[in-house]
Amino acid sequence: MASLLEISDVSVRFGGLVAVDGVSLAVGAGEICALIGPNGAGKTTLFNAVSGNAAISSGRILLKGEPIHGLAPHQISAKGVRRTFQNGGLFAGLTALENVLVGLHAKVGSGFLGLLAGARASERAESSSTEQARALLDLMEVGHIADELASDLSGGQQRIVEIVRAIATEPPLLLLDEPAVGLAPHMREQLVRIIRRLAAEQGVGILLIEHAIELVMAVADRVVVLNYGRKVADAPPEQVRADKAVLEAYLGHA
Ligand SMILES: Nc1ncnc2c1ncn2[C@@H]1O[C@H](COP(=O)(O)OP(=O)(O)O)[C@@H](O)[C@H]1O
Ligand SMILES: [Mg+2]
Repeated sequence: MASLLEISDVSVRFGGLVAVDGVSLAVGAGEICALIGPNGAGKTTLFNAVSGNAAISSGRILLKGEPIHGLAPHQISAKGVRRTFQNGGLFAGLTALENVLVGLHAKVGSGFLGLLAGARASERAESSSTEQARALLDLMEVGHIADELASDLSGGQQRIVEIVRAIATEPPLLLLDEPAVGLAPHMREQLVRIIRRLAAEQGVGILLIEHAIELVMAVADRVVVLNYGRKVADAPPEQVRADKAVLEAYLGHA
């Protein structure tokens, strides 16, 4: 069977700069694949290529065997590829719950339901999606902050709510761009638990960009290392940790 996500010989160029250079990698359902490498290695650009935010110059990107490169971001999102961004992006003036509802409504479309079945059905859809959003926040250990404004949450709480919003529609594939930046140690542990559960219990395939190497070692089934846009390693964490080329690329020494 085809992998959930298959990136095949993908390059992304910005003028003369080859930001991603012939990268191939696959992520299976329920698999956690970490993408590491020094700043400027092309990690975010590769995410942008998968989510439709950057055009690829060559190669193919397949979701469940179907090409998704060339589609617009909202089309790729509708196919079940959700992502978080490096610099976050909750609606500050909305509560945590309302932010998750925004993620849910991308799919529920209560306005459309309302047209079809009258206002009552729309109200029912509304209250059931509110229940669903609360249940998700509970599941992800942030139920207690459901009614707080996003702007009043700690950075760590915001990141977790952002992840809850991204997974609200149960996407098969989740892309997380540096989710642990600025998180206190206990929030990091919570994040690790959440990522593991999403993969193990819900079968979500996860591609994770992360600088915190302990976190990568703790959650990843596989680690892919990029350097100057090229893939220099793709192996289980313990093997990558022992790889000389990786140490050179990632830590700047052998
Ligand atoms: N929109 C863009 N236009 C031009 N160059 C870009 C753009 N986005 C990224 N780059 C360049 O591509 C390279 C890879 O960047 P990026 O993917 O952000 O790396 P990483 O996420 O691994 O730190 C860098 O040299 C960066 O300056
Ligand atoms: Mg980046």
